Amino acid sequence: MEAILLVGGKGSRLRPVTEYTPKPMVPTAGVPFLAHQLAKARAAGVTHVVLATSYLAEVFEPYFGDGADLDLRITYIHENEPLGTGGAIRNAADALTCGPDEPVLIFNGDILTGLDIAGLVDSHRAAGADVSLHLTRVEDPSAFGLVPTDETGRVLAFTEKPQRPEEIVTDQVNAGCYVFRRSVIDTIPAGRVVSVERETFPGLLESGAHLHGVVDQTYWLDLGRPAALIQASADLVRGVVRSPALPGKTGEYLVLPGATVEDGAKLSGGTVVGAGSFIAADAVVEGSIVLDGARVEAGAQVRASFVGAGARVGSRTVLDNAVIGDRAEVGEDNELQGGARVWCHSTLPDAAIRFSPKP
Ligand code: GTP
Repeated sequence: MEAILLVGGKGSRLRPVTEYTPKPMVPTAGVPFLAHQLAKARAAGVTHVVLATSYLAEVFEPYFGDGADLDLRITYIHENEPLGTGGAIRNAADALTCGPDEPVLIFNGDILTGLDIAGLVDSHRAAGADVSLHLTRVEDPSAFGLVPTDETGRVLAFTEKPQRPEEIVTDQVNAGCYVFRRSVIDTIPAGRVVSVERETFPGLLESGAHLHGVVDQTYWLDLGRPAALIQASADLVRGVVRSPALPGKTGEYLVLPGATVEDGAKLSGGTVVGAGSFIAADAVVEGSIVLDGARVEAGAQVRASFVGAGARVGSRTVLDNAVIGDRAEVGEDNELQGGARVWCHSTLPDAAIRFSPKP
């Protein structure tokens, strides 16, 4: 089966905190996030992936090459200007080789999911649908476009973000993974910006196409915010969500070759420690990403945080839900919490910042 993976768009706001951009290239559980997605696609029977790129398109190919290491064929398609999700699918489809009735898997590059991809494709075939969509249920649907279905799974509507309570007709939302009949992709207009959610799907529905929703309450995480990326990494390390690309066994932590973890350091919660990094005795690192060449010094406490490549976290410093940019220096006895971000190459002196929670 062939797939299109959407990794373009307007760009990543992670840039000031890590040089590993765009976001799908940020190491997550030891490898670029994209490696997990590609490996999962391969495991589901995908043999050719078309990578639809725009922002920083040039960074993908040197890492993934022709895909042979993943037993895949990867084709890179570049948009000079982002074409939106629908436009990108249409543009990337030029590289597909399958027949007009074949199913093509399409997925967003910023979502981690435990979806049974092969099951979605089977359901698509069984329903004889033009397009099938993975739908997930969310607690607060008000921030999403909603996708109500009938009892057979047939999609009834696509609604924009609901503005009033009575518009919340379902808790099912588009989870960013689709199967398109190949020929349906050709109905998307070429050469202009198209949103699949706002234009393609509603248009198909209006023209009488059969859109099929598959509600699957599996693991699903949108990597929109850095906290989600940290969570995704921890969940991959702990095996809460499985990936064939995890470079080691699942467990409470993953220490990559070449890292030094001194006796007495406490690693837990799905922490990943990158190559060449150093964790001192009595340091605590819980549910965090420590990238290559970083240092976490004696007695430091790092929780649910991201420590960038080559960054330093000084002795006794406490990080909780913080992002430390690549090669940034955080001196001793600091306390950073609640989404604090330190830009790449910045320096915080010793005892510069403390945190007082709201009363
Ligand atoms: P539209 O549906 O086009 O309005 O985008 P959206 O805002 O709903 O998409 P979102 O930003 O949620 O991105 C979904 C996925 O599509 C992500 O993996 C993006 O990297 C990717 N993506 C978004 N826009 C583009 C684009 O213009 N080109 C490409 N190649 N990928 C895109």
